Amino acid sequence: MSPTNPNGPARPVTKAVIPAAGLGTRFLPATKATPKEMLPVVDKPAIQYVVEEAVAAGLDDILMITGRGKRALEDHFDRNYELEETLSAKGDDTKLSLVQEATDLATVHYVRQGEPKGLGHAVLCAAQHVGDDPFAVLLGDDLIDVRDPLLARMVEVQQQRGGSVIALIEVQPSQIQLYGCAAVETTDEADVVRVTDMIEKPKSDAPSNLAMIGRYVIAPQVFDVLRHTKPGAGGEIQLTDALRVLAGRDDDGGPVHGVLFRGRRYDTGDRLDYLKAVIRLAAEREDLGPELLPWLREFLGQRRS
Ligand code: UTP
Repeated sequence: MSPTNPNGPARPVTKAVIPAAGLGTRFLPATKATPKEMLPVVDKPAIQYVVEEAVAAGLDDILMITGRGKRALEDHFDRNYELEETLSAKGDDTKLSLVQEATDLATVHYVRQGEPKGLGHAVLCAAQHVGDDPFAVLLGDDLIDVRDPLLARMVEVQQQRGGSVIALIEVQPSQIQLYGCAAVETTDEADVVRVTDMIEKPKSDAPSNLAMIGRYVIAPQVFDVLRHTKPGAGGEIQLTDALRVLAGRDDDGGPVHGVLFRGRRYDTGDRLDYLKAVIRLAAEREDLGPELLPWLREFLGQRRS
């Protein structure tokens, strides 16, 4: 039996919101003048992978939440006529198409978050653009491997069950304090759980080892909740706190379901995960892997002795 949507026929999800206004303090000093979302993962900025993922899930109306010092993000998705003309005059069509790729991907809109008051506040900045439909949120520093599609499944679950949908991974119990954590109940689908409670960065009271990662499909009722959400963990307005309110509702923005994700994911805002992402993706590339892998093996051999 297919799941029922308590809110009636689903309104389609067409918009993606990408919050990218955070300070990126874990990556200082690299992020002093460069947005962390622009750090290259092999030869493409992290943010481009995220936009490509949204487009692959059928969402090509993108709203990016930016802030001070984030101009490079806008420039990256805009035309660069000078560069394009130079490459065109040289007849370098391969590089020209690489430059144009980011511009042709999607329609990207921007809104500035005046002050980085937290992820919940960043999402609230999207209210006017999003309107009354459910929408996706993709964190600009969280990469999901293109071979393990997650967002399309989350959109499907939202359309079937209504309300909002979060993405969950299993982490070591000692790691859960770094994430938003969800208390859940099983459903009739193995990869879908009903979320009964959520807590941001739990200290000793974690209800599970299921951690929220940077993908969401959210009902528009979240905006009203966010307008009344007080600063929580870290003194920031937390998206988790607003979703917790929706998790307690059977309609009007609720319930909240979780999709369990077991695929490859990289938190490029974290230095170690960033390095892993670069090495893994480069090793798998046809143009780099054949030279990188033997070098890596030799390097590791030397480290062992
Ligand atoms: P993070 O928790 O990674 O915070 O934000 P941060 O400030 O970017 O990075 P660190 O921890 O200081 O290194 C999660 C996501 O929410 C966005 C960030 O850009 C990131 O994509 N965010 C966070 C905002 O857009 N606005 C905020 O006020 C806070």
